[in-house]
Amino acid sequence: MKREIPFHRPYITDEEVNYVVDSLKNGWLTMGKKTIEFENKFKDYIGSKNAIAVNSCTAALHLALKVIGLKKGDEVIVPTTTFVATAEVVNYFNAKPILVDIEPDTHLIDISKIEEKITSKTKAIIPVHFSGQPADMNEILDIAKKHNLYVIEDAAHALPAWYKGKKIGTIGDITAFSFYATKTLATGEGGMATTENDEWADRIRVLRLHGINKDAWKRYSKEGTWEYDVIENGYKYNTTDINSALGLAQLKKLEWMWKERLKIAQRYNEAFKDYEELILYKVKDDRISSWHLYPLKLNLELLKINRDQFIEKLKSRGIGTGVHFIPLYRFSYYKKKLNYKSKNFPISEWIFKRVVSLPIFPGIKEEEVDYIIDNIVDIIKKNRK
Ligand SMILES: Cc1ncc(COP(=O)(O)O)c(C=O)c1O
Repeated sequence: MKREIPFHRPYITDEEVNYVVDSLKNGWLTMGKKTIEFENKFKDYIGSKNAIAVNSCTAALHLALKVIGLKKGDEVIVPTTTFVATAEVVNYFNAKPILVDIEPDTHLIDISKIEEKITSKTKAIIPVHFSGQPADMNEILDIAKKHNLYVIEDAAHALPAWYKGKKIGTIGDITAFSFYATKTLATGEGGMATTENDEWADRIRVLRLHGINKDAWKRYSKEGTWEYDVIENGYKYNTTDINSALGLAQLKKLEWMWKERLKIAQRYNEAFKDYEELILYKVKDDRISSWHLYPLKLNLELLKINRDQFIEKLKSRGIGTGVHFIPLYRFSYYKKKLNYKSKNFPISEWIFKRVVSLPIFPGIKEEEVDYIIDNIVDIIKKNRK
C-alpha cells in the first residue's frame, strides 16, 4: 500500500495548543513574561549563563557577529556545506565568508583545513554542528586562541547535543539556536543566543529591540515605566510571547523528542548497515547528536541511478526527503562574490552528489519507518550495477 510520508511533521500536541491559547488569552502578545520564562528555562536546560530569545537563528548569528565587533573587510571562516544563513550574516557587515571544506564521514568543517585559510583579516570561526553532531570544538577553540579569533557556534541543528559531556550552548563565545518549523524544538520561527559573557548578553538584548534600553515588558507592564532611551542603532529581532509559549511547551518534551529521533536513527543504521550501496553517516565517539537530520549517502559507484533519481523514486513511493545542503559555492551569488570553484572543495562535492536526508521526527509511526526502510532497500536492490 502506498503511503504519504512527508520529510517532516511538527510534533504539536494539545499541550502546545493550550500554552498558546493561554498566551493569547492573557492579554500580552509580544515579548513579555512568557519570553522571560522561556529564556530562563532554556538557560537552565543548557546550563549557560545567559539565553536571549530572538526571532530566528539568523538574527542570533547576526547579533553575535555584531557584539564581537565584526567590521567591513573582516573575514569569517565557515564550512562550505551549511544553510545560507551562516554566511549571509557575514555579508551584512561587508565582511567576507571564507569557505572551508568538510569531512567525508561527518560533514563537519575539516579542522585540518582551517589554518591555511586564516589571514590577518580573519576575525571569527563559525562551526556548524551539522545534523546535530557537534563540530571538533577543542581543536577549533585551540586554533581560535592561537590566532585570536572568536568562535560563534551555529547550533541551528544541535538542540540537544553534547561534546565530550558538555552541552552545546556552553562551549564557544556565543551559540545560536534555531526554532524554525522543522527544528528539534519548533516554534514556527524563532532563535536563541547563549553566552557566558554578560556584557554581550546585555547588548544582544538591546540590539534585538531597536537599541532600546528597556523592552515593552519593562515599559507597559505594571512593574514598568513609560520612559526609555535608544542607546544604539538596533534591529527588530525580538520574539513574541506566543512563540515563547510554544517554546515552553516544546522544551518540556525536548529530551523525549530527542530520544525518539535517536531510536529512528538507530533503526535506520541497523537496517542499512549491510548494504554496500549505502554509506552511513558517522557520529564521533566523544559526542552525542540531536539527530535533527538523518543524512544517508549513496555509493554511486555500485548503483545505476544517481542521487536525484533516487530522490524521485522515493517521491513516487510517497516518501519526502531533503538535501542538506547545496554547498554555498554552488549558488550564483556566491560564485560571483567569492569566485570559488567546485574543484576547490572535492569532499563537499563528493558528499553533495551522494547525500539525501531521510524523514526523522518524533511522532513518525513505526510502520512509516518500516515503509521507508523497505522502499530504500527495494530501490537499491533493483538498481544495483
Ligand atoms: C545550519 C543552519 N544555520 C542557520 C539556520 C537559520 O535558522 P533560522 O531559520 O532560525 O534563521 C538554519 C536553518 O535552517 C540552518 O540549518
